[in-house]
Amino acid sequence: MPAPDVTITTPEAAAREAAAEVRAVLLEARAAGRAPVLGLATGHTPIRLYEELVRLHRDEGLDWSDVVTFNLDEYLGLAADDPSSFRTFMERHLFAHVNLSPTNVHFLSGEPASEEALRERCEAYERAIVAAGGIDLQILGLGRTGHIAFNEPGSAVTSRTRVLELDPQTRRDNARDFPDGVEVPRFALTMGIATILEARRLRVLAFGAHKALVVASALSAPMSPTLPASFLRKHEDVRFWIDSAAAGK
Ligand code: F6R
Repeated sequence: MPAPDVTITTPEAAAREAAAEVRAVLLEARAAGRAPVLGLATGHTPIRLYEELVRLHRDEGLDWSDVVTFNLDEYLGLAADDPSSFRTFMERHLFAHVNLSPTNVHFLSGEPASEEALRERCEAYERAIVAAGGIDLQILGLGRTGHIAFNEPGSAVTSRTRVLELDPQTRRDNARDFPDGVEVPRFALTMGIATILEARRLRVLAFGAHKALVVASALSAPMSPTLPASFLRKHEDVRFWIDSAAAGK
């Protein structure tokens, strides 16, 4: 297992470098005669990356017409057009500003359904990723609980797309994205750890002192379901961009 590639830099430089890699992946897939497939994350961390990708589209003509996307996760119980849904987040920060084809955008729907229907929704998502040829590059952030996507502590390395209960810490952290008085949903749908590890490249961003502990554990704690981010080190092509505050521990 190679040591993960870690770059300590500014969030601005990380966004530029990550966006340059996204562009390279788009060109590489096209040169190989297939549509590029990106895995996308929400949260505060990738906002600058999305700004840079929008800039590359607007100022440098980066084409998104054949790009296929899969987002990592969504809250269960939120409609796609809910102002706090991850789908709305993606519209606001990326989808509305590039020439993606809506039929190429894949999202786990947060619409409530029976347990059986939710299981089928998750299995269909796995099948859709395989049918698209797998994910070329997956963007990831790190949660303070050690989660990747919404794989909270306790998530197995073999886990697949499923519904799971959010950690209370994650619900507190994400309350900032909900209007006052609106509770963060208790459950979410998320790609599993095994699903994420199947992407051909993993690109992880983490900025700020509040991420220092999880970054240190992801890079050096024994691999274990108590810290799902530690499983990132199993991947052969994983790269971390962190700032000096997140590198503090
Ligand atoms: C979002 C996601 C989460 C976030 C993580 C960090 O799609 O899957 O794992 O990446 O919670 O969130 P921020 O970037 O807001 O600190």
